[in-house]
Amino acid sequence: MRLGEKENIYLIGFMGSGKTTVANRLGQIFGKRKMEMDDVIEGRAGMPIPMIFERQGEESFREQETQVLRDITMDGAVISCGGGTPLREENRALMKKSGKIVYLTVRPETVLQRIERGQTTRPVLKGHMDEDYVHDLIQKRDPAYRNCADFIIETDGKDVETICKEITFKLLSSNS
Ligand code: S3P
Repeated sequence: MRLGEKENIYLIGFMGSGKTTVANRLGQIFGKRKMEMDDVIEGRAGMPIPMIFERQGEESFREQETQVLRDITMDGAVISCGGGTPLREENRALMKKSGKIVYLTVRPETVLQRIERGQTTRPVLKGHMDEDYVHDLIQKRDPAYRNCADFIIETDGKDVETICKEITFKLLSSNS
């Protein structure tokens, strides 16, 4: 696999897959800058994501998401993507050409456990915090995630250190 010095590390996966937590830790491990795409979008729009969805609509949010990716330079950052980022073909291509993509998988029951402990403000799951809905949405998105992933890491039942060790091993090994 081998990670180039200037290549970014993109973490993709469903909401609650641990992208933010893992990105923070990976940034420390590699001594790289960490970037949260959702935070950049919120900063640019001057409002939180639920409000962007409400006032401007999901399509506008998706366009702003793509614009953030277009603006990203190759400076070896660890980037935590939004759960829907890999759904657009252009987004997948932009990530592919500027870094390595790590897909963090997660089971529906884990999503609900993790999100209930944390924020419940995600517009995509508003009114849909049930296992069947989450299961179906993961199934729908999984092909797009897999389509661009350089490698895939299961996160259920693992702590952040274990996940980061697995990622580091894959990123640094020369023949995987
Ligand atoms: C979304 C996931 C969110 C955020 C937005 C849409 C999605 O990011 O980008 O609410 O479509 O899955 P997280 O995966 O960081 O929660």
